[in-house]
Amino acid sequence: MKKEIVLTGITTTGTPHLGNYVGAIRPAIEASRNKDSESFYFLANYHAIISCHEPSRIKQSSREVAATWLALGLDTDNAFFYRQSDIPEIMELTWILTCMTAKGLMNRAHSYKAAVAANEADNDKDPDKGVTMGLYSYPILMAADILMFQATRIPVGKDQIQHIEMARDIAARFNHHFGEHFVLPEAVVNDQVAVLSGLDGRKMSKSYNNTIPLFTPEKQLRKLIMKIKTNSLEPGEPKNPDGCTLFEIYQAFATENDVEAMKRRYAEGIAWGEMKQTLFEYLNAHLAPFRDRYNDLMNAPDHIEAVLLKGRDKARERSVPFLETIRKAVGISALE
Ligand code: TRP
Repeated sequence: MKKEIVLTGITTTGTPHLGNYVGAIRPAIEASRNKDSESFYFLANYHAIISCHEPSRIKQSSREVAATWLALGLDTDNAFFYRQSDIPEIMELTWILTCMTAKGLMNRAHSYKAAVAANEADNDKDPDKGVTMGLYSYPILMAADILMFQATRIPVGKDQIQHIEMARDIAARFNHHFGEHFVLPEAVVNDQVAVLSGLDGRKMSKSYNNTIPLFTPEKQLRKLIMKIKTNSLEPGEPKNPDGCTLFEIYQAFATENDVEAMKRRYAEGIAWGEMKQTLFEYLNAHLAPFRDRYNDLMNAPDHIEAVLLKGRDKARERSVPFLETIRKAVGISALE
């Protein structure tokens, strides 16, 4: 049986937060321990420059994302862990795929359509105002990331499913024309993992500015947890754990027994202040050892760099020969 290949990219524009950890990073690191599959995880910095034109932020984010995954125990001897821009074959493949992608397909991309809709809502004369070709062709770059490594399973959030479908469309069209070179990937949306709410009760997301950074210092972690929005029920009044942000976060970290015990405390009317303190202590105890490792790594960028370059070499052992077959398939290889 052919091995499954799991692949996902992390756009390097922000600081990893609790929601990223629970929803994506933790399951990905667990999946990478499965010997029946191969894992490809990469810093999607070509994706980052689509929306972020601040070099210092991209640089800082790349360092933070890499340090986070390593601190949490990603085994880079096992997984492929690299920086997208270190694999020049991805860019070459992007162009080759661009030439096989219908413009109409890109017209239908959600992110592009959302930008146009926003312009129309503002009564802008130009519906494409602020839309770069990077944003417009973003799904082709993503298809190249995936198709380059013959990935079969792409763990993503719901917002990314369309991009995986586009990667399939592009791959199928290429295969139909040039022969069966690409494997068609599948999106994997894991409903088991929790989607955490943020400080204001909306989904925790950097676009809402409501996140709790995963490795924020202890004092700051306490302060942020104290800020989480609750209702105005008094101590002693029974409370509903469902839909409660504090409980949700607690549940994402606690053992089953502790979760059951906490449900009883809710029924008994635990005070919000006490719940916040408990959550803080629980989280802090869980995160502290990883945070120490993270801080050490953040202070050792040379080490992170060395790990990424090793990852590059390992990934290019696949991408260089594979791109050569694609070049041949489309007719741009050496004359013989
Ligand atoms: N676009 C993805 C996101 O914003 C990140 C990403 C880039 C990605 N390339 C990928 C995810 C390839 C999966 C596969 O979340």
